Amino acid sequence: MKAAGTLALMGCLITVVEPKIYTRCKLAKIFSRAGLDNYRGFSLGNWICMAYYESHYNTTAQTDLEDGSTDYGIFKINSYTWCRRAKLQEKNHCHVACSDLITDDLTDAIICAKKIVKETEGMNYWQGWKKHCEGKDLSEWKKGCELS
Ligand SMILES: *[C@@H]1O[C@H](CO)[C@@H](O)[C@H](O)[C@H]1NC(C)=O
Repeated sequence: MKAAGTLALMGCLITVVEPKIYTRCKLAKIFSRAGLDNYRGFSLGNWICMAYYESHYNTTAQTDLEDGSTDYGIFKINSYTWCRRAKLQEKNHCHVACSDLITDDLTDAIICAKKIVKETEGMNYWQGWKKHCEGKDLSEWKKGCELS
């Protein structure tokens, strides 16, 4: 009994720390509800495509860059300009802790991504988007997803 309980508890803990990988359609739904579809003229496909090439839908994705900054989360948002990693540094334009950009709840990441698109006038911020999504027919990305 005791062993089984411990095992069950371990199962829970493992579930909590495991990186969350969203499915394409789940993400499409979350993005749509958050008002990303046609945000500043960028259709839903742009967002799903971008998130795929930036993070492979991995909410805990993190990449350390050579300049000492780090890209965080599903949209690979960089600490140098957009979020706060330590106390007294960085511009933190999104007024958010970088650690809040790698949670399963995508609210903060989406708010910050919107700000990036607004302030930098487009999605060019994301190399993955420029390389693989820009100017392409992106309707496939939301194909088969129920978006209501
Ligand atoms: C998701 O990202 C984390 C942090 O970078 C990494 O450790 C993990 O292996 C990734 N998961 C997948 C399935 O790629």
